[in-house]
Amino acid sequence: MKRREFLNTSSKVICGCMAGMGLSIISGCSENVVSSPVGNEQDNTLVIDLNSGGYSPLLADGGSVVTDGNSIDNQGLLLLRNSNTVRAFENNCTHSGYDLMPFNNGISVCTSGHGGQFNSNGQAISSPASGNLQEYQTELNEDVLTIYG
Ligand code: FES
Repeated sequence: MKRREFLNTSSKVICGCMAGMGLSIISGCSENVVSSPVGNEQDNTLVIDLNSGGYSPLLADGGSVVTDGNSIDNQGLLLLRNSNTVRAFENNCTHSGYDLMPFNNGISVCTSGHGGQFNSNGQAISSPASGNLQEYQTELNEDVLTIYG
């Protein structure tokens, strides 16, 4: 194979791989984000029925979802079922503000690829993330979750 043919072929392969990686990252992120309900702006609360709208992972202990932006936090919320409660954290990495992935086995990984991770208390456990995620107060009555902004 001549040098020109080699460069032409190899550059197409590299571009194809990078395009595929980009698509998988984008689809991987968007699949995990659920829509937020319309919040009550008078008392700054969100009320969510866990049986609808993609929130069913929160019916089981350890389940987690990430919401899109809402009246409490315009970057969305990172939610985690913890026994009889649901914890609500900001979806905003403490390093450079990238979105976070839903918890998996008690760990939420930053989508940036920088390596940041958080434990189920919202504490950074892997740099360059540091400190704690802001947490919002919640209340769970049966399968109805209220989040207070
Ligand atoms: S933005 Fe999360 S680790 Fe960099």
